[in-house]
Amino acid sequence: MRILGIETSCDETAAAIVQNVPHNKNRGFIISNIVQNQLKIHAEYGGVVPELASRAHITNISVVVNAALQKADITPAELDGIAVTVGPGLIGGLLVGVAVAKGMALATNKPLVGVHHMEGHLMSPFLLDDPDKTVDDDQVDFPFVALLVSGGHTLLLHARGFNDYVLLGQTKDDAVGEAFDKGARMLGLDYPGGPAIAKLALNGDNKAHKFPRILLDKNRFDFSFSGLKTSLRTHLIKNPPNEEDHKSRSDIAASYQEAIVETLTIKAINACRHTKCPRLLVAGGVGANRRLRELLVENAGDEVKVTFPNMNVCTDNGAMIALAGLHRLENGYRDGWELNARARWPLAEL
Ligand code: KG4
Ligand code: ZN
Repeated sequence: MRILGIETSCDETAAAIVQNVPHNKNRGFIISNIVQNQLKIHAEYGGVVPELASRAHITNISVVVNAALQKADITPAELDGIAVTVGPGLIGGLLVGVAVAKGMALATNKPLVGVHHMEGHLMSPFLLDDPDKTVDDDQVDFPFVALLVSGGHTLLLHARGFNDYVLLGQTKDDAVGEAFDKGARMLGLDYPGGPAIAKLALNGDNKAHKFPRILLDKNRFDFSFSGLKTSLRTHLIKNPPNEEDHKSRSDIAASYQEAIVETLTIKAINACRHTKCPRLLVAGGVGANRRLRELLVENAGDEVKVTFPNMNVCTDNGAMIALAGLHRLENGYRDGWELNARARWPLAEL
């Protein structure tokens, strides 16, 4: 099966073609994967401006979809299905993707399937760039604990099988990506804040300042990042770093990043112990954070096998949507012309 996946829920216009892998039913091979980001458009505003994002999706979508088809060297008529992100996300962008997917499905008479954005992220560690690559199938397989960390979500799930997800915990306020983005803004860094903080933190001392680790109770898997954000604000008011003083700004960035990644690490490993599940899959934009990767692997030891998606499918992309759509189609799901974009869509409703 070859599936087109379309993703327009935030500020990436993305399309990809993914094919199933005969020797492992969960995995998908990326034939093409095109992502057009809108960083330049939103940079001067310090965050994504929804109206500008929808307009950019309208401008980019046909170019991106055509590029994905051309790179894969197939025509729409040769596809086995069309998958699209239905939500959650920014409604204007979602409407563009859903309209295009419906139009293509109607024109080609191919099955249409709507995908939950976070189920897409959940499938990203199963994506392969090379179908013949030897992979440790035992390491990336159900059941697993998933730590889904993006700009809009912070979720811990027990994924017992495809479409069989038990929610263990989620954020009570800001998403972890937001904590990075808002913290970066306070430090005068550009959007997206995650990579900017990670870069500034590189030469910093992560023990220089003690920022709070919140809700660390062993048997609770919910998160809260607003207190951490406030403590950064208070710290910066009380001790304003000199713009020229790179070392002190690096120390703050490293200490702030450490508070975030340590909280995620402790909770994710506790969740594996609680569910007696020795596999942890990390996905979503924040999963690209190298310090998070390092600390998770260090704390997991021999007890838990930790897997991350390849860097090229960590942040938003069409390949993860195509793979989730491929599994949905294989499991008998189809959507009709009534398929609608959903700005809000709790994963628990899947
Ligand atoms: O999954 P994603 O591309 O989009 C959403 O679904 O939200 O995640 C975007 C988020 C942003 O908040 C961005 O700052 C964060 O992921 N991010 C990072 C890194 N790369 C992206 N956060 C920390 N470290 C990174 N290296
Ligand atoms: Zn995302």
